[in-house]
Amino acid sequence: MDYETPLFFRVMQYASRAEGDVIDMVSGNPDWEPPAALREGLHEYADADPDRFQYPPSDGLLELREEIAARRNVDVSQVVVTNGAGEANYLAMARALERDSGSEVVLTDPVYPYYPGKTTMLGGTQTYVETDETGQLDPDDVRTAASADTAAIVVNSPNNPTGAVYPEETVRELVSIAESNDAILVSDEVYDHYDLSGTFASALSVDSEHRIVTNAFSKSMAITGFRVGYSIFPEELVESARSRHMLVNVAGSRPAQHAVLHALRETGPEYYRANRDRLRDRVDTFTDALERAGAEYTRPDGSFYVMVRFDGFPGTLENVERLIDEAGVAGMPGTAFGSSREEWLRFALVTPRVEESAERLIEYFE
Ligand SMILES: Cc1ncc(COP(=O)(O)O)c(C=O)c1O
Repeated sequence: MDYETPLFFRVMQYASRAEGDVIDMVSGNPDWEPPAALREGLHEYADADPDRFQYPPSDGLLELREEIAARRNVDVSQVVVTNGAGEANYLAMARALERDSGSEVVLTDPVYPYYPGKTTMLGGTQTYVETDETGQLDPDDVRTAASADTAAIVVNSPNNPTGAVYPEETVRELVSIAESNDAILVSDEVYDHYDLSGTFASALSVDSEHRIVTNAFSKSMAITGFRVGYSIFPEELVESARSRHMLVNVAGSRPAQHAVLHALRETGPEYYRANRDRLRDRVDTFTDALERAGAEYTRPDGSFYVMVRFDGFPGTLENVERLIDEAGVAGMPGTAFGSSREEWLRFALVTPRVEESAERLIEYFE
């Protein structure tokens, strides 16, 4: 089987080799500070006894799992701490596909590109449902696409790359479609703390044995390098997911889990609010400039991406490389996210230089 290197890696490498000054808006690496307590937790760990440098429980530090369970209002036995949302999604999709209830995975178009990659890796096949222009998903389209062969429906809200936040009704219907096809809804909620609309609904709000919720602290605490995430499984699906996690990883990183636990306990809502406010400002600054230039763009309700379309300049890898070399701005090609956004480019608002980048783009296209 041929697993391609994810495109964003190639774009980042290309941008890092570029000669001039390039504003990096490629990946979802926040440029803001983690919670102060996260740093405290790490410092504290450096002086811990050697026994705390050894294997943690495979499914995560019990206190961290308890903290997550309490916050998400689930039983601690349902929580598996993972190597980021990436592993959480892998465990969830693998669990759905090993139930012998089909081999098809229903995905959206545009799609977060790791889902189709994971589907192929796990021996499944992809069926795509197009979202509307704003990134909203019509449950009726999902119902039509789903069948007895559907093992999983994988969705992400707040969404990368569209910025859409699905209303509770959509989430409820998606769970019901999974139930009626004996499939699993996998709800990736890694951007839940970046809901700018106030309308985010977690799939946990719908009680069902047919949904798995995945999440991580990568984005919410601005620590994509720490690799701490989690999956919340229904009771009857958790056991073999736990085994898979153990066989693949042995365990996760103990210092990282300790620091996240400390940060969870000590960080108030103002940290997350300040991050949202900063993001809102950046969305305004970036899109105001694009508006003045007459470009077509999306205004995210959540996550931290803006999609932009410039006339006669499709979202290909070649065009992205041209923008890096000739405009000094690095984004992602829309072609990375399926076929529906081939004309578009995606820019991650993870730099304070959003105004400058918009100006560079405008100047380039003038
Ligand atoms: C939708 C989505 N899911 C999962 C991930 C991966 O998260 P993690 O770094 O926690 O593995 C990302 C990262 O950008 C993402 O955008």
